[in-house]
Amino acid sequence: MTLPCRIRAPGPGDEAGWRRLWQGYLAFYGVAAPPEVTDELWRRILEPREPVHALVAETRLGFFSAGQLVGFANYVLHAHTLGPQPVCYMEDLFVADDARGEGVGRALIEALIHKGRVEGWPRVSWHTHEANEPARALYDKIVPRDPFIRYKVKLK
Ligand SMILES: CC(C)(COP(=O)(O)OP(=O)(O)OC[C@H]1O[C@@H](n2cnc3c(N)ncnc32)[C@H](O)[C@@H]1OP(=O)(O)O)[C@@H](O)C(=O)NCCC(=O)NCCS
Repeated sequence: MTLPCRIRAPGPGDEAGWRRLWQGYLAFYGVAAPPEVTDELWRRILEPREPVHALVAETRLGFFSAGQLVGFANYVLHAHTLGPQPVCYMEDLFVADDARGEGVGRALIEALIHKGRVEGWPRVSWHTHEANEPARALYDKIVPRDPFIRYKVKLK
C-alpha cells in the first residue's frame, strides 16, 4: 500500500509536526537533544542561507488524517573538491511508527534524489547502521550500497 502523501519543504506552520517527529527520531536512537539544539536546528531548516534543509511528508486530502506530517528527511548541502556544485548528505530520515511500510520513506528519498537532479548536485548519499534492517531493506531497493567504509574519531 502507498500512503497518499505530498513531499515538500517545511514552513513555519510545520513546527509542531516536525518537532513531534524529531522527538520520535531521537527516541529511536535513544538520544536526547537539549531544547536549544532542537530550536537551533529548526531555525536553520527554515533559513534558506543555512546548509541544513529538510523535506517533510504530509498526508493528502482524502486520507483520514489529512494534513499530518508523517515523516522527514533532514539533509545538508556541502562543498566538495571536484566541482562547483554542492553535494547532498541525508543526515536524518524518519517516518512515524503508524505510517511505516507504506512508501513514505521511499517517497522522501526519491524526492530528494529528484531535487538533486533538478539542482545539479553530483550526488546524494547517506549512512545507516549495519543492523538497521528496515532502513537497509528500503535503501537496498533504491541503490546498491557502495564499498566505502567510514572511520570516525570522536572529539566530544
Ligand atoms: C527506515 C524508515 C525510514 C523506512 O520508512 P518506511 O516509510 O517504513 O519505508 P517504505 O514504506 O518507503 O519502504 C520502502 C521499501 O522498503 C521495505 N521495507 C521498509 N521497512 C521494512 C521492514 N521493516 N521490513 C522489510 N522491508 C521493509 C519495504 O518492503 C518497501 O519496499 P517496496 O517499496 O518494494 O514495497 C522507517 O522504518 C523509520 O523511520 N525507521 C526509524 C528511523 C530510521 O531507522 N531511520 C533511518 C536511519 S538511517
